[in-house]
Amino acid sequence: MCGIVGFVGKKDASPILIEGLSKLEYRGYDSAGVAIIDNDHINVMKCKGRLKNLQKKLSGHPLKGIVGIGHTRWATHGKPSDLNAHPHNSQDGIISVVHNGIIENYSQLREWLISKGYKFVSETDTEVIPQLVNYFYNGDLVEAVMKAVSKLRGSYALGVICSKEPGKLVAVRKDSPLIVGLGEGEYYIASDIPAILNHTREIYLLNNNEFVVITESGVKLLSDDGSEVKKDIYHVTWNANAAEKGGFEHFMMKEIHEQPKAIKDTMTSRIMMDKPITLDDIKITKDEIKNIDKIYIVACGTAYHAGIVGKYVIEKLVGMPVEVDIASEFRYREPIINERTLMIIISQSGETADTLAALRESKARGARVIAITNVVGSSVSREADDVLYTWAGPEIAVASTKAYVTQLIAIYIIALFFAQNKNTISKEEIDEIKRELLRLPIKAEEVLGNKEAIHEFAAKIFKEEDLFFLGRGLDYAVALEGSLKLKEISYIHSEAYAGGELKHGPIALIEDGTVVIAGATQEKLVEKMISNIKEVTTRGAKVLALTSEGNNEIEETVDSVIYLPKVMDILAPVVSVIPLQLLAYYISIQKGCDVDKPRNLAKSVTVE
Ligand code: G6P
Repeated sequence: MCGIVGFVGKKDASPILIEGLSKLEYRGYDSAGVAIIDNDHINVMKCKGRLKNLQKKLSGHPLKGIVGIGHTRWATHGKPSDLNAHPHNSQDGIISVVHNGIIENYSQLREWLISKGYKFVSETDTEVIPQLVNYFYNGDLVEAVMKAVSKLRGSYALGVICSKEPGKLVAVRKDSPLIVGLGEGEYYIASDIPAILNHTREIYLLNNNEFVVITESGVKLLSDDGSEVKKDIYHVTWNANAAEKGGFEHFMMKEIHEQPKAIKDTMTSRIMMDKPITLDDIKITKDEIKNIDKIYIVACGTAYHAGIVGKYVIEKLVGMPVEVDIASEFRYREPIINERTLMIIISQSGETADTLAALRESKARGARVIAITNVVGSSVSREADDVLYTWAGPEIAVASTKAYVTQLIAIYIIALFFAQNKNTISKEEIDEIKRELLRLPIKAEEVLGNKEAIHEFAAKIFKEEDLFFLGRGLDYAVALEGSLKLKEISYIHSEAYAGGELKHGPIALIEDGTVVIAGATQEKLVEKMISNIKEVTTRGAKVLALTSEGNNEIEETVDSVIYLPKVMDILAPVVSVIPLQLLAYYISIQKGCDVDKPRNLAKSVTVE
């Protein structure tokens, strides 16, 4: 949802900004641009489309200078175009701004500025910011940015430079992520860590309403009343390679293959056979657990699909009612939550605007909040009462894969932790689940070993225009995720339906040759699922079934079968989602789509 970078140092800023932006393209790729101060003048280069367009432009007309800002855009206000690309300048060109977020009161500000004689050239909400800073500028950039920001409503991470103070970069954040990188006499700002990892692993994680003033002599952090803020340096433990493709053609394929390790890492030191579930990072006490009478899981996109699995699993193991909701819906209804409610917030990035708003809403209503997130120091991790990190490592492909399976693992861990504390299942049952969980990395490897079968199936169906995903119980939850993966990266329309529900309408769409992917991993439901499969094959559908080893009877009913290693029913989503991820991937490749950067999407959605 837009990525910003900034640099102050001794080297040429341009290549450093471009390299940073290349690591942030997952946040948006509708346009890209940089602004660099050359003596007492700001030069801007920006253009519509991918970063490579900007690189091409810059190779013909390099920009000189050692202080600059850069932006990669996911369009909200104003179509993708050269004019709407960031950085945006004040009309006299002395102030330049990059922005990630949305300014909600931009139209009032724009009218007011127009009444003061300002002229606008873009359709963006952002352009009011450089104009406002310009309006307040009286020789002190920090003061002008502070005054301008006090007039803004909405979310923003901003990088601001001024040609009259050529050695300075001012930045600030509210509800959009921003970090500061601390190098040797060189300093950076960025929306996310990978953008600066080739230069430094020492960073500051900024809080809302904190300002950063960077000059060649160092970094100063200020609160919104102007007082200085002291902050610990955070040392990033993973290295730049973790955010590279590592020999794979696409990040998505690399991340699919990292799943066995990610599953293992997320369980390490939390699930051990000879010890109770240990959650160092969750401080909720036995008494507090006793007090909880309802659980809500709230998330968006793939994380929401992990939440649906969570409902099945927690209700089964903990015997407590669980509601799952989409964050953007949750926040605008009147959810019944109080101090006896436990909220589980799931977010890979920890920055999704709707999810963050749901977290705040539930805290305001007295609920205890546990966050499942992949990003240390993200807003969600900082605002929740407790955090359970998924140790998936950086996920760069827009389509989420390893984050999803580790979110599932986090859910199993939380469910077992509650079951253990509330004695809702026996120690033997807990041990059995733990044993099976610890075997999952190997089972996931086995599924990956069978990827050619999926590749071949993808080759047969990549020209389809509509597909159905069917499943019952947890297979339905996985069907939703499989369908989302396919839509996101191959642009094929698909529907995910509960096996028993199809006959209440959508079965009217099944005709000769319609492709249906049917999940049948749940032992108690296999027979029922076979009946549902027959309902579609009778009407001409071609069916690929995903089922567990041993369920050979399904072969009589379907066209193709992919067998999955046998795992306990509640754990099946961890293995059954992998073939669906691979299917989406191979179809996307066959269709020539941009797998890692699908059209219209962004990985981190920091606007409502
Ligand atoms: C975007 C991404 C999805 C992701 C969703 C929630 O839409 O494209 O892949 O599932 O946001 O993101 P989060 O970071 O909160 O898990």
